[in-house]
Amino acid sequence: MQNDCPSARRDFLKKATVIGASSLASTIVYGLEPRQRASQINHYPFYNEHQQGIETPAQKHIYFIVLDLHTTEIAKIKEMFKTWTAYAANLTSSKNVKPYGENAHVPTIDTGEADSLNSANLTLTFGVSPTFFEKLNITHLKPKALVGLPHFPRDQLKEQYTGGDICIQACADDPQVAFHAVRNLVRVARSLITMRWSQAGFNSFEGSDTPRNLFGFKDGTGNPQGKELKEAIWCQENDWLNGGSYLVARRIQMHLETWDRTNLNGQEETFGRHRDSGAPLGMKQEFDTVDLNKLDSEGKPHISEISHLHLAKHTGKKIFRRSFSYASGIDAKTGQFDAGLLFISFQRDPNQFITIQNNLGNIDKMNEYITHIGSGLFACFSGVKNENDYLGKALFDQL
Ligand code: HEM
Repeated sequence: MQNDCPSARRDFLKKATVIGASSLASTIVYGLEPRQRASQINHYPFYNEHQQGIETPAQKHIYFIVLDLHTTEIAKIKEMFKTWTAYAANLTSSKNVKPYGENAHVPTIDTGEADSLNSANLTLTFGVSPTFFEKLNITHLKPKALVGLPHFPRDQLKEQYTGGDICIQACADDPQVAFHAVRNLVRVARSLITMRWSQAGFNSFEGSDTPRNLFGFKDGTGNPQGKELKEAIWCQENDWLNGGSYLVARRIQMHLETWDRTNLNGQEETFGRHRDSGAPLGMKQEFDTVDLNKLDSEGKPHISEISHLHLAKHTGKKIFRRSFSYASGIDAKTGQFDAGLLFISFQRDPNQFITIQNNLGNIDKMNEYITHIGSGLFACFSGVKNENDYLGKALFDQL
C-alpha cells in the first residue's frame, strides 16, 4: 500500500474508499469489540521491509514526540522496544494496545479514547538520536553519520525543542488516533523514559492535491518519486541501519503577520513558484519541469537565484519532505501566532539535508519570514519484518 507518486495517492484513496464502503456495509456485526468492528477500514500493513510513515502518503495529522532515556540498562530498553512493537502492530490495525481485562479494580490496559475509531491510516515510526548511543554506552554501534546537526546560519534553537534520545512519529487521518497511540506508548514505558518535547501538526488537502503550508503555497511538489525516492531515503550500508532512514525534524516558526503584509509578486519570488497553481515561475502547471536558467523577456531568470526553489534545487541533493503545519496558540512575547512548519525530512544520509540547509543559509529570500527554533536528528530502524522481529532487533542483536 505504500505509494510514491502524486497520482498513486489518488488511486490508493479511490481503492480505500471502495474497501471502506464495502467493509462499512459489513460492519454491522454485533458482539465484537468496537475497535475490532472497525478494523477492516484503512490501515497500512505494519510488518514490512521498511518502517511505516516514511514513504507512506502523508496523512492529515501528526503527533511527534521526543523522549529522554531514564535508564542505562540496555536489557530494559530492548524489552521496551519489544513491547512497543507489539503495541504498534495492534494500534496500526485498529486494535487497542491489548484486549481489555475483566478486573475493574485496576486501571484499564488501554486508555480508551480510540475505542470505536478505526486506525485512520495510523503509522508509527521510531528513531534514535546520537545521545541514545552515548547514554547506553554503545557508541561503537553509532553510525558515523549520526552526529548532532551543525549550527546553521540564523538558527535560534530553543532548549525546549531540541535534544532527546528517541523519537516517535505518529501520523493518522484522525488527530485523536495519533495522540492515543503516543499516549499509550509513553504510558507503558513511563519508568524508563521521560517526555522532552512534542508537536502536533496538520495537513489539509483534497484527494491527491499537494497540501498547502501556512504561507498558502503548495508544499511537497518537488519531492522525489519512484526510484529516485527510494535512492534518496533508504540506508544501504551493510550495518544495523540497512533499510532504515535518517529523520530530520525542525520546528520552524513562520512569521505569518509579516508574510501577510507581503504582496503576491513578492511571495511568489520568494519561493520561485506561483502561489495558485504551484507551477514554477514562468510555467503553467504544478508539475512542469523546473528550469533554473529560463529567462524572462527582460533577460532575467524567471526563478530568482535567491528564491527558496533555486537554492534548494541547485544543490542537486534530494531529500523527502514530509512536513506538517502547526498552530500552537499565541507567542507570549510577541503577541503573534505561534505557528509554522514541523519540517520533517527523510534521507539516507543527514548530509543531504545539511547541504541544502547550508545553501539556504543566509541567502534564502524566505529567511526573513521564518525562524528555526527546534531541531532533531534520528536514525529510524528498518521495518519489523514479522512477528518474530521487533523494532531495533538488528541493533540489539549486536550487543
Ligand atoms: C517554513 C519553512 C519552509 C517552507 C514554508 C518551505 C516551503 C517550500 C515550498 C513552498 C517549496 C516549493 C514546492 C515544493 O517543491 O514543495 C519548497 C521546496 C523545497 N524545499 Fe522548502 N520550505 C521550508 C523549509 C525547507 C527546509 C528547512 C529545507 C531543507 C533544508 C527545504 C527544502 C526544500 C526542497 C529540497 C525543495 C524542493 C526543491 C526542488 O524542487 O528540487 N525547505 N519548500
